[in-house]
Amino acid sequence: MSEQGSSQGNQYPPDPELSKTANARPEMKEQGLEEFWDEQAKQRIDWFEPYETVLDWQLPYAKWFVGGKLNACYNCVDRHVEGGKGDKVALHVVPDDGSDSADAHDITYAQLQRQVVKFANGLKKLGVGKGDAVGIYMQMIPDAVVAMLACARIGAPHTVVFGGFSGKAVDERCTDFGAKVLITQDEALRGGKAGAQKKNADDGLSADTTIEKIVVVKRTGGDVPMTDGRDVYYDDLVADLDDDPSSCPCEPMDAEDLLFLLYTSGSTGKPKGVVHTTGGYLTGVTTTTNLVFDVKDDSVYWCAADIGWITGHSYITYGPLANGLTSVLYEGVPGYPDKDVWWKIIEKYGVTILYTSPTAIRSHMKWGEQYAQSRDLSSIKILGSVGEPINPEAWEWYRKYVGGGSAPIMDTWWQTETGHILITPLPGITTLKPGMAQQPFPGVKPEIRDDEGNALGLNQPGNLVLTQPWPGMMRGLYKDDERYRDTYWSKYSDAYFAGDGAKYDDDGDIMLMGRIDDVTNVSGHRISTFEVESALVEHELVAEAAVAARRDPDTGQAIVAFVSLVGENQGDDELKQTLREHVATQIGKLARPAELIFAHDLPKTRSGKIMRRLLKNIAEGEELGDTTTLVDPSVVEVMQKQVNPT
Ligand code: WTA
Repeated sequence: MSEQGSSQGNQYPPDPELSKTANARPEMKEQGLEEFWDEQAKQRIDWFEPYETVLDWQLPYAKWFVGGKLNACYNCVDRHVEGGKGDKVALHVVPDDGSDSADAHDITYAQLQRQVVKFANGLKKLGVGKGDAVGIYMQMIPDAVVAMLACARIGAPHTVVFGGFSGKAVDERCTDFGAKVLITQDEALRGGKAGAQKKNADDGLSADTTIEKIVVVKRTGGDVPMTDGRDVYYDDLVADLDDDPSSCPCEPMDAEDLLFLLYTSGSTGKPKGVVHTTGGYLTGVTTTTNLVFDVKDDSVYWCAADIGWITGHSYITYGPLANGLTSVLYEGVPGYPDKDVWWKIIEKYGVTILYTSPTAIRSHMKWGEQYAQSRDLSSIKILGSVGEPINPEAWEWYRKYVGGGSAPIMDTWWQTETGHILITPLPGITTLKPGMAQQPFPGVKPEIRDDEGNALGLNQPGNLVLTQPWPGMMRGLYKDDERYRDTYWSKYSDAYFAGDGAKYDDDGDIMLMGRIDDVTNVSGHRISTFEVESALVEHELVAEAAVAARRDPDTGQAIVAFVSLVGENQGDDELKQTLREHVATQIGKLARPAELIFAHDLPKTRSGKIMRRLLKNIAEGEELGDTTTLVDPSVVEVMQKQVNPT
């Protein structure tokens, strides 16, 4: 756990002008839970049929807006067109090679509607209907957003698998969900290079896969393997299909009907299928987008996340589009083709809101402020941060060089499981403190508790819990009630256990302090140590593996793997490289260990338990304390020498 901001540091009171015009009002925090959300749901969402009950809370399962009928796609697209905003730009599509390429184009809400209708008709042609699961394995191209909305339109729940994950990860998730159709693209274009996408999906298909059809959107036009009868190019699928909205009306969905599953890493076992439903989720993301980022009709919004993560679901697709915003959708990576590409995009489109991760900010910081300074960023009004605690230095840099020294930064804490932002400052209300998420969103009731369940006071680190439900909260883990209860509701019987450490500062502001379980956070991406260990032991030369995380100045945390090999094998640099690549192909590049350490055994107690605390200390290069309970203390020395070779 790293110490973040402190009440002794700088504080930035809200600009009085912003306080006057901000969407968020201080009185909202005084409203009752149901009163607040009822008002938001009525004001921000179009319901085909009104709900009867705001909240039905039977711990640990919540139902929100019970009896209401709505459609997420209707709220994100059709209602804006019907309301006369068809010509408004929904997406500024910025391709991999930056803003000036010929591939750059705008999609208006009316165009988006037609694209979604066509896609939805394509899915229907393949036999997909209400309640049928669909997998999506794509990069940051507009078709990915269109595909998600097309699923929502016909009531087919999607599961998006991050485009950088392996095909095996895709197959596991889609098969768990029972998806028969997978939507992917021919190739991925990232940092100027075309990489495999469709082929990865093919390579990962298992003998018992549920996937029967693969729809391939052309991005590069590259030559990719196509299996007759199973694979179809999107263009061919929809060639003779209608794009008139009346040809595919939005399916009325129950508020509690499944909108999507998103798989995320837990501390043990296979990835968890986090269940999100329609009415509560949409109300939660629409409201938080509006109030946290203080969006206006002329806002130009850019969330630089990936649709493969929850941030992309909530704050690229559903939240901004439900608010009828104009957004930037960027395919590329920071730093390509030039280190100023982000700032060029902000300048070109007049971006007013930027939402990104501390890791991205730290990359820009490392390259130097001259890139940001070479562009006109004066359009920026609000900044956001998500994914991991932001260190105060990065926060100050972000405000100074991207926010013109005055833009407020919303450090937003939330999770795949929470669906939307829960702890965050609010524009025009909160006096900001660098490095802290600070305050609960209206209706959210956090507490910090010790292991025995006592509520802690100021400056006492403990476990973050939430004692009241919120609309976008997960409705369980897919087909795994027991795991849902065990993971989130067993540590404390009356509250949601988030898995994060936190404390209140002197003023009662909340400071997040990192995960307290075996989930690492590399560049804001959740990776479980368990998954990396499982991948390593699948290799024939690996006897045992244990994984710890160490602090990293760029990526927040970095994965360090400790490996003992079979037989007399000592391991060498080549094998290290092989094993790192092995993890990358099994899970995805982001899980590739930064460091791999060989030893003849892992540090174990006499009862055979791996001492994980020690591994963490070794990875961090820290003092080890007592090692006398180990069966073989020499293991530790062997490991330490590799971490600190001097
Ligand atoms: C961490 C991402 C500190 C936290 C939306 C959480 C943060 C996990 C913050 C969820 C923040 C996210 N400050 N920590 N502002 N935002 N986290 O599911 O450990 O990918 O539990 O959702 O990221 O990661 P997930």
